[in-house]
Amino acid sequence: MEKNHRAIETFERLWLLFVLGMLVFFLVVITGMLRTHGGTVPERAERIDATKVRTEGNFANPRVVFEGGRYIAYVQAFAYGYLPAEITVKKGLPVTFYVTSPDVQHGFYVENTNINIQVIPGQVAQVTYTFKRPGVYRIICNEYCGLGHQNMFGKIRVED
Ligand code: CUA
Repeated sequence: MEKNHRAIETFERLWLLFVLGMLVFFLVVITGMLRTHGGTVPERAERIDATKVRTEGNFANPRVVFEGGRYIAYVQAFAYGYLPAEITVKKGLPVTFYVTSPDVQHGFYVENTNINIQVIPGQVAQVTYTFKRPGVYRIICNEYCGLGHQNMFGKIRVED
């Protein structure tokens, strides 16, 4: 009897150790993810009138401006594409994207990054990202937005 009891106790301790180990492991993983992925959670910058996106304000003139060592990109996600169709930035400099839609809901996912915005008409989403490697990054719409959804792409060219 005594022997069985001790065996069970040892077994329980092993499980406790295993659970503690898992806990530490997940904490390390989560901390690591926050460190590498932190800061690119899209924020809602402001609300605007979706019917005026094409005619008034920054989004009627989609563009990338460079000021104070950083880029600011005003992007229109529309059915079916992005304006500007191509964005060019230099690597290692922060880029703040402001994205909105004049029509329906779209996605703004930049491949090989963790930029992933749900673009909602009437809202301006904001996200800041620094590209570390040069290359061409596609912008992909990952929200179903109509018949042309699968052809909705944009392009970000990151120069050395
Ligand atoms: Cu835009 Cu799908």
